[in-house]
Amino acid sequence: MKAITITEPGGPEVLTWTTVPDPVPGPGEVLIDVVASAVNRADLLQRQGFYDPPPGASPYPGLECSGHVAALGEGAVGWEIGQPVCALLSGGGYAEKVNVPAELVLPVPEGVSVAEAAALPEATATVWSNIFMGGGNATSSNVFMIAHLRPGETLLAHGGASGIGTMAIQLAKSVGARVAVTAGGPEKLARCAELGADILIDYREQDFVDELRKATDGAGADVILDIVGAKYLDRNVKALAVNGRLAVIGMQGGVKGELNLGALLVKRAAITATSLRGRPLGEKASIVAAVREHVWPLIGAGQVRPIVDRTFPMSDAAQAHRALEAGEHIGKILLTRP
Ligand SMILES: NC(=O)c1ccc[n+]([C@@H]2O[C@H](COP(=O)([O-])OP(=O)(O)OC[C@H]3O[C@@H](n4cnc5c(N)ncnc54)[C@H](OP(=O)(O)O)[C@@H]3O)[C@@H](O)[C@H]2O)c1
Repeated sequence: MKAITITEPGGPEVLTWTTVPDPVPGPGEVLIDVVASAVNRADLLQRQGFYDPPPGASPYPGLECSGHVAALGEGAVGWEIGQPVCALLSGGGYAEKVNVPAELVLPVPEGVSVAEAAALPEATATVWSNIFMGGGNATSSNVFMIAHLRPGETLLAHGGASGIGTMAIQLAKSVGARVAVTAGGPEKLARCAELGADILIDYREQDFVDELRKATDGAGADVILDIVGAKYLDRNVKALAVNGRLAVIGMQGGVKGELNLGALLVKRAAITATSLRGRPLGEKASIVAAVREHVWPLIGAGQVRPIVDRTFPMSDAAQAHRALEAGEHIGKILLTRP
């Protein structure tokens, strides 16, 4: 088969469409004949040599895909050969075929094309696990996400026009939350408003703490989904409401910040930080099961949809990476089989 390989750490030009050995599904795995994959920010870091795949994962980039079931490994249950599916991957989505544990596969939801479904697994799993799941999971004792956004609460999603942000807006609105977003510029904010965002903050022109306070009668955000990290830590704590929860999922503004514990204590607030890719299979399986139970019906009902900015041939992954790096996209950038 063909896959995008990373010839050496570097710029987009190191992504090469190469012939590689065909994967064979192991026990419990599903082999997917890939129709599409999507570009995630983590793929840029992997390409640059800053984010190695976890042990046992495919060396090729690609954290999600859609396609058809091509073969089933021993003991892989729940799926039929030829069925249209999408999947959360630890790597290997930029390829003609990929193996994935059966628990991380999802059916293509009603009303969504097979290709568009590639835009769903990473954003839905990240958003659902970080802002909706509450106190622990079915498979382990870890208290994995506690943000637990409730109806009537206010969510602040930084980067509202990103792949993650466009999904966060839709899911938060679907549970009856009020949504504030930050984004760079009026065009991105207008798209966020179309998706349902109530409070629009242009972070290049406005201070998000001031704007959020004004819009919430001084209360702040009950939950913040943060992709900026260190640069926003202090202001995020200021923007939190009493009993607020800050869920950090990205560090585009650095990893080391200074935290005023007094400010956190007075608000009885909590900060969590997680990465989806490296979680044990059992935790990811619980997240995928929760996404199928809670998010898939919303997609089937047309309340939530994949937001696709544009599509590139998979062999041209370099151009797709350049487009993501340019930062002009709204929603997801897809790669389809040439
Ligand atoms: N922890 C996890 O498990 C996990 C999983 C998936 C994604 N993520 C993270 O989530 C983030 C979004 O991922 P994605 O794939 O959706 O990326 P993406 O579509 O490339 O979005 C990146 C966004 O960051 C925004 N941004 C940059 N600086 C900002 C700032 N100072 N304030 C507000 N927004 C800012 C950009 O908006 P402007 O153009 O308006 O600046 C852009 O929309 C990334 O950091 C990614 O690493 C984490």
